[in-house]
Amino acid sequence: MAEPKENIVMFPFMAQGHIIPFLALALHIEQTKGYTITFVNTPLNIKKLKSSIPPNSSIKLLEVPFNSSDHGLPPNSENTDILPYPLIIRLLHASTSLKPAFKTLIEDIVEEQGGKPPLCIIADIFFGWTATVAKELGVFHAIFSGAGGFGLACYYSVWLSLPHREVDSDEFELQDFKEASRFHVSQLPLSILTADGSDSWSVFQRMNLPAWVDSNGILFNTVEEFDQLGLMYFRKRLGRPAWAIGPVLLSVDNRARAGKQAGISADFLKEWLDAKPVNSVLYVSFGSNNTISTSQMMQLAMALEGSGKNFIWVVRPPIGFDINSEFKAKEWLPQGFEERIKDSGRGLLVHNWAPQVDILSHKSTCAFLSHCGWNSVLEALDKGVPMLGWAMAGEQFFNVKFLEEELGVCVEIVRGKTCEVRHEDMKAKIELVMNETEKGKEMRRKASKVKGMIKNAIRDEDGFKGSSVKELDDFFKAATVMRDGANHDA
Ligand SMILES: *[C@@H]1O[C@H](CO)[C@@H](O)[C@H](O)[C@H]1NC(C)=O
Ligand SMILES: *[C@@H]1O[C@H](CO)[C@@H](O)[C@H](O)[C@H]1NC(C)=O
Ligand SMILES: *[C@@H]1O[C@H](CO)[C@@H](O)[C@H](O)[C@H]1NC(C)=O
Ligand SMILES: *[C@@H]1O[C@H](CO)[C@@H](O)[C@H](O)[C@H]1NC(C)=O
Repeated sequence: MAEPKENIVMFPFMAQGHIIPFLALALHIEQTKGYTITFVNTPLNIKKLKSSIPPNSSIKLLEVPFNSSDHGLPPNSENTDILPYPLIIRLLHASTSLKPAFKTLIEDIVEEQGGKPPLCIIADIFFGWTATVAKELGVFHAIFSGAGGFGLACYYSVWLSLPHREVDSDEFELQDFKEASRFHVSQLPLSILTADGSDSWSVFQRMNLPAWVDSNGILFNTVEEFDQLGLMYFRKRLGRPAWAIGPVLLSVDNRARAGKQAGISADFLKEWLDAKPVNSVLYVSFGSNNTISTSQMMQLAMALEGSGKNFIWVVRPPIGFDINSEFKAKEWLPQGFEERIKDSGRGLLVHNWAPQVDILSHKSTCAFLSHCGWNSVLEALDKGVPMLGWAMAGEQFFNVKFLEEELGVCVEIVRGKTCEVRHEDMKAKIELVMNETEKGKEMRRKASKVKGMIKNAIRDEDGFKGSSVKELDDFFKAATVMRDGANHDA
């Protein structure tokens, strides 16, 4: 009888932005290693995930019991995507209550497999406590970060030291990450900006982040060759390996399964892009669950029109309106905007969601105006497309800083969801990046260099293994050594 396949347990936090990179990694591991994967989550997320798993995949979905009503949350709210901002922290705290159920779940798997523990547990950056459970059970454990090395290093450091509270000025440095140079308070997400060490977010992170030392290491959806600063930070700070194994991305098909309905047909889009000159189109999108204010939207529309550039803009109702409601161009955009861009053929408004990878792959696409969430960043870098950064939350501000200062592939256009913006300033930045200026040319050159690094990192042929392929191998080797070593002792 054949040896039963290795089993891996994966457990993302209950947010679409976390579940999607975990799903991408699960499919990647299944495809390259053939391991069996048990994907753990709360009942409603599991229900939703059922349709996201491709029919030929053997990924197993497993529920941990959770009832949001028991935690002061609205009924049936198991995902941050349906929660207003103030309740997200409540869901984070509630998630720590999953600890005993998760421990039992792992013990059951061990028992089912005749006493053989899973090869490893791969869990979320918000689930530090799973590392403690794994340690108690003697199972190899890794955190998987859907965020990049640099961005997460800043996030980790800032949370544990709250450096902006130590200085009188608006600028500060990170004592344990000086390589990142200076920060401005406007680059901090709201949760950190308002943290004082005793608020709910601080309490959570001061429990969560230090627990990472119980883990055997961190997997990053990034590439060693361009993200070394951040990776080194964790190697030094935690004394644990940081494996760069990316980019691991969901294909357009799998993303469609994950519930994204494109607001435009792929054929129409291709025809539209084919008719445009090389490097002439700006692609504008703020990710799956973000939008901007009404006045910012108006100014952006004026900037796009004023720049004279071709553009594809994924539009959603502005802040204050239901993000899933109908888009009212007549109310939220300058008068006649939609008709003018349609008549001139210069612009395309896409409602809800666009096949982003297809757009970024097209030769007519020149630049990407993005919120710089790490998935979007990886998709752009993978295609060698420079960015205009407009960070909105989380570690996105640090991503923009990294892309601009370290990689030279981004210009920050706006910072945050609420700041005043002027269309003249935005137009100037769009031209700086898209015109044949020295800066624009240099950015395209650097973006194309990063694209080459990525191509090399994921190469696996003719006896050559790129860095991301090697580091994933190393990760599984470390897990195997620990498990088989432990079995020996037993
Ligand atoms: C499932 O099908 C996709 C698309 O044909 C393929 O890329 C993938 O390798 C398949 N996965 C498995 C586990 O067979
Ligand atoms: C969750 O708890 C509430 C209140 O105790 C209960 O009414 C509800 O039926 C529970 N939901 C599920 C899915 O068990
Ligand atoms: C996602 O969108 C919903 C509205 O549909 C909003 O309430 C929620 O705050 C958003 N979540 C994040 C993380 O931005
Ligand atoms: C960019 O190009 C446009 C059109 O050729 C021109 O009008 C504009 O002044 C240029 N802007 C910059 C900053 O070079």
